[in-house]
Amino acid sequence: MKLFACIALCLQTGFALNNSLDWTLMDIFVFSIPVQVLPPVNFTLTVSALAQVLLQWEPNPAQEQNNSTIRYDVKILSPEPEEYDTSRTQSVRTAALHNGFCARVRTLLLQEGLQRGSDWVQGHLPPLPGAAETSVTNLSCVTHVTIPGNVSLHCSWLPGPGAPEDTKYFLFYRYETHTEECPTYSKDKWSRNIECRFSSTQIQPGEIDNLIVIHINGSSKRAAIKPFQQLFNQNAIEKVNIPRNISISLQQNHLLATWEKPISPFHEECFEYEFYLINLKSGNKQILSLSSSSFQLRVDASSRYSIRIRANLNHICRAPGVWSDWSATNYIGQNKLESSIAWILTLLCVSTSCMLLLVAILCQINHVWTKLFPPIPTPSNKFRDPFPIDYERARTCPSSTETEVGSLAEGFSCSVLDDSVF
Ligand SMILES: *[C@@H]1O[C@H](CO)[C@@H](O)[C@H](O)[C@H]1NC(C)=O
Ligand SMILES: *[C@@H]1O[C@H](CO)[C@@H](O)[C@H](O)[C@H]1NC(C)=O
Ligand SMILES: *[C@@H]1O[C@H](CO)[C@@H](O)[C@H](O)[C@H]1NC(C)=O
Ligand SMILES: *[C@@H]1O[C@H](CO)[C@@H](O)[C@H](O)[C@H]1NC(C)=O
Ligand SMILES: *[C@@H]1O[C@H](CO)[C@@H](O)[C@H](O)[C@H]1NC(C)=O
Ligand SMILES: *[C@@H]1O[C@H](CO)[C@@H](O)[C@H](O)[C@H]1NC(C)=O
Ligand SMILES: *[C@@H]1O[C@H](CO)[C@@H](O)[C@H](O)[C@H]1NC(C)=O
Ligand SMILES: *[C@@H]1O[C@H](CO)[C@@H](O)[C@H](O)[C@H]1NC(C)=O
Repeated sequence: MKLFACIALCLQTGFALNNSLDWTLMDIFVFSIPVQVLPPVNFTLTVSALAQVLLQWEPNPAQEQNNSTIRYDVKILSPEPEEYDTSRTQSVRTAALHNGFCARVRTLLLQEGLQRGSDWVQGHLPPLPGAAETSVTNLSCVTHVTIPGNVSLHCSWLPGPGAPEDTKYFLFYRYETHTEECPTYSKDKWSRNIECRFSSTQIQPGEIDNLIVIHINGSSKRAAIKPFQQLFNQNAIEKVNIPRNISISLQQNHLLATWEKPISPFHEECFEYEFYLINLKSGNKQILSLSSSSFQLRVDASSRYSIRIRANLNHICRAPGVWSDWSATNYIGQNKLESSIAWILTLLCVSTSCMLLLVAILCQINHVWTKLFPPIPTPSNKFRDPFPIDYERARTCPSSTETEVGSLAEGFSCSVLDDSVF
């Protein structure tokens, strides 16, 4: 009878508390009257900083403890679903709040190795006010470790499609407890701010997975501008610096390259590189992925190469960021074979042309000679040509000169052809 009452109570409690059937069944076999689990009270959500919510609640004053442990189960429903439990009665979350925030909390009671939960209590923050489509879109940000070791921040965005022409946007960043408005904006043709640059920020370059909060609100006479918030992992948007002191040499058939890691608080082992090699003779392009800052490669020593290197952080130390820009182009080697062939061809062309020119000149002199001392003219066509052979000779010479001019032109076309080989 007592057992049945217990089972009934367990079942009732279990279902009333919306627990899983497993717990209910386990309670049945323990045969002890469980303490009732009551939800926490006074659950509040407060915006404590840009894109930051403080969740707070109080233990239910009616909750009996009876040697049990109390914890709280927190479930964030929006904007990003997340669930965790804590023994404390408050918790801080970073989230983009422009579309509101919604969360639940319940009591968890651990007693004699069993865990049971109370009903949920729910709280929410309303979306930030403003007219539809007035928020900025396509926000993108990138950071850069500058030479003195400070981090710069650059963001760009598009005005919302519903934002009036007189909209003025303002950008703020928050890093840990520091919040700051953008000092320098760039504008679009309506002079709306669409870009922002912080040359120095409080972002710590060596931190891992810290968040950078971006908040962009605005004002307009014609509409309420809805703010927009976005969180960026500082490592994911860091554009790495270019590798330094690149040195490239050629030893017989080997290209030797060394360089130094980019300016960064991270160690040498944290970087990976891409080596972009173009054989300028064959036009072959190659991108090699490297994990060390020196390497050698067998190359065709008769070719000229162009080389560029860029860097990124690898997975070993933290999440990779944005690839650095390519380094300035380095050149190495000479197209040796090509140049000697070209030299020989040019020499051949020039000497052939000279010889032909010489022949032509000789011919011309010969022609002039015949002009100065012409053969005895034939008075009339009626008479037979008395010197048919000499006459023929005088005629052939100019025509042969024409041929020579032609081969001279061939000589030029030869060198033109030669050019196209390079
Ligand atoms: C709680 O009950 C509702 C229906 O009342 C059900 O949809 C939901 O899945 C239950 N939750 C759990 C954790 O059992
Ligand atoms: C819990 O302990 C209190 C006294 O501290 C007692 O009155 C109560 O009956 C106990 N409840 C259960 C379910 O054991
Ligand atoms: C809950 O809030 C009310 C009103 O603010 C207050 O009177 C009450 O003491 C609070 N309860 C707890 C357990 O703090
Ligand atoms: C709590 O546990 C202690 C021993 O650990 C025991 O002496 C005490 O009676 C228990 N109290 C309740 C209310 O169960
Ligand atoms: C803005 O973002 C949307 C989707 O995220 C994309 O389709 C569109 O091309 C982007 N516009 C510009 C100008 O980059
Ligand atoms: C670098 O940061 C420090 C403070 O962290 C600041 O005093 C200094 O002016 C910054 N340097 C540059 C070049 O921005
Ligand atoms: C924009 O947001 C900042 C930071 O929350 C606030 O100080 C400022 O008043 C806001 N401006 C407008 C126009 O809403
Ligand atoms: C790069 O080379 C220059 C001159 O060769 C040298 O002064 C400098 O220290 C080198 N940089 C590093 C980081 O070693």
